Amino acid sequence: MRVSIRPWQLSDATDIAAIINNKKVQDNLRDGIAYPYSVKDGEDFIASMLNAEEGTVFAFAITADGRVAGSIGAFRQTNIHSRTAEMGYYIGEGYWGMGVCTKAVKLVCRHVFENSDIIRIYAEPFACNAASCRVLEKAGFQYEGTLRSNAVKNGHIIDMRMYSIIKTD
Ligand SMILES: CC(C)(COP(=O)(O)OP(=O)(O)OC[C@H]1O[C@@H](n2cnc3c(N)ncnc32)[C@H](O)[C@@H]1OP(=O)(O)O)[C@@H](O)C(=O)NCCC(=O)NCCS
Repeated sequence: MRVSIRPWQLSDATDIAAIINNKKVQDNLRDGIAYPYSVKDGEDFIASMLNAEEGTVFAFAITADGRVAGSIGAFRQTNIHSRTAEMGYYIGEGYWGMGVCTKAVKLVCRHVFENSDIIRIYAEPFACNAASCRVLEKAGFQYEGTLRSNAVKNGHIIDMRMYSIIKTD
C-alpha cells in the first residue's frame, strides 16, 4: 500500500468525517472533538489547519493508495518550548494494522525536521493505547516515561506515556 502525506483540501471533509465518526477512534483522542462529527465539522477543522500561521502547524491528510486514510499533525509549542512540537494522529478503522500510521509518522518527522527549526517532536498516547505506543516505537521515538494519573478520559483516570524523537544532524 502506497502511503503519503499531503496538505488538506476542503473536499476531504466528507472522508475525515467518516473516519472520526467512530467511537473507537475518539476514545483514544483528547476530548473536544464533536461526536457525532458532521461534514461541516470536518470543513471547519480543515479550514483551521489551512489558516494556521505558517511554521506553527504541520498538518496533513494521510493517504493510502490515493485515498484519505487518516489525519496527522505536529503542532509547535510556545514559550521555552517553541522549538518542540506535539504530534497527534488517527487512522480510519478500515486501515488499521497495515503500517499506514507508522509510515505517516516517519514522513511528518522528516518533513518537520527538514523544513523548520524544530528540534524535538513528542507524543503522549494513553498508556493503554498499545497500538499507538507501538507506532511511535517503530517510527524511532524513544519512550521517556509514564505520566501517572495524567488525564481523565470517559470518566477514568488514566496514565499517559511520553515519547519523543530528537533532530539529529
Ligand atoms: C493507533 C493508530 C493510529 C495506529 O494506526 P495503524 O495504521 O493501525 O498503525 P500501524 O499499522 O502503523 O502499527 C500498529 C502496530 O500496533 C500493533 N498493535 C495493534 N493493536 C495492538 C494491541 N492491542 N496491542 C499491541 N500491539 C498492537 C500492530 O500489530 C502494529 O505493530 P506491528 O507492526 O509490530 O505488528 C490507529 O489504531 C488509530 O487511529 N487509533 C485510534 C486513534 C488513536 O489512537 N490515535 C493516537 C492517539 S495517541
